[in-house]
Amino acid sequence: MAEIKNLEHLQNTEYSLKKIFDEAEDFLPLLGTDYVELYVGNAKQSAHFYKTAFGFQSEAYAGLETGAKDKVSYVLKQDKIRLVLTTPLNPDGPINAHINKHGDGVKVVALWVDDATKSWEETTKRGARSFMEPTVEEDDHGHVVRSGIYTYGETVHIFVQRKNYNGVFLPGYKTWQSHYNPEPVGLKFIDHMVGNVDWDEMNTWCEFYGKVMGFAQIISFDDKDISTDYTALMSKVMSNGNGRIKFPINEPAEGKKKSQIEEYLDYYNGPGVQHIAVATDDIVSTVSAMRARGVEFLYVPETYYENLLDRVGKIDEDVSVLKQHGILIDRDEEGYLLQIFTKPVVDRPTLFFEIIQRKGAQSFGKGNFKALFEAIEREQEARGTL
Ligand code: FE2
Repeated sequence: MAEIKNLEHLQNTEYSLKKIFDEAEDFLPLLGTDYVELYVGNAKQSAHFYKTAFGFQSEAYAGLETGAKDKVSYVLKQDKIRLVLTTPLNPDGPINAHINKHGDGVKVVALWVDDATKSWEETTKRGARSFMEPTVEEDDHGHVVRSGIYTYGETVHIFVQRKNYNGVFLPGYKTWQSHYNPEPVGLKFIDHMVGNVDWDEMNTWCEFYGKVMGFAQIISFDDKDISTDYTALMSKVMSNGNGRIKFPINEPAEGKKKSQIEEYLDYYNGPGVQHIAVATDDIVSTVSAMRARGVEFLYVPETYYENLLDRVGKIDEDVSVLKQHGILIDRDEEGYLLQIFTKPVVDRPTLFFEIIQRKGAQSFGKGNFKALFEAIEREQEARGTL
């Protein structure tokens, strides 16, 4: 299916954020993130990676053994986070085309709702393009209703209504019994998921989330906030009414050299999910475990930690331990947060993960952007893409 290229019809409508925030609960109540589905070249091996390195648990499986003819999916879980890894079994079709164009990447950001039919009707009525009309799927454990709409690039949101279902994951899946069950690393839930969009398209997509999904903008960063000597970007954070779903949207800005957002757009061949931020209650133990299992994190220079306490005030953690792991700290009016970024988890310089621990702070680590981008630039330089 074609990408959404033209959203001008959305831009012509006047709306107020206040009104949108008030309306959000009315027309699109979202209970949380239901699952994130990646289209990958080899789901079996990706599943092994996310179990081993990220501590995900085997939950469900669909493939030839369950009657699926054209694809295999592994479902992994850790606390409230559900990842689905899907690989096609045949040479043609939309999953192959997606992988060929984008490499391994996020196709579906699924949202848990009470009424998937109404969610589809309300969003398509407001200008969303349909990906999947409301569809009932059932087995011996009940039924699920799913529907879907396109967002930026070829990424989609699927609305999942599962109140009448008590089976494992979705109809068509069976429990995935595995003798290999590495311990979880303490990942709890998805804090936010970031989309990279094309030049000058940030506002278009923020308006999409505002008008079509009833989200409100909670934060905005311009290129003065987010720039280094070489690269720049702009970012706005959109949130749904209850704050459970937060989607920051980035677009590249002019800098002296190629920005990391441009690099992403080049290698992903268009807009897509840049990073998945997952929350932990103990970032030091989570990151220690992930490092021990082979996850690579961005390097942060020791100079970042000089005068750190002057910048962020008193914190509970031992700075030398944070420094040893390269964990970043930022403070806002409500508290502070700790965060760290993995290197890309795929071969193309596209998708990565963030591990975040919030201690009161509800913001997005603006004070860390410069350190983060300089760290990414060092990686870009090594790739020859700066
Ligand atoms: Fe983030």
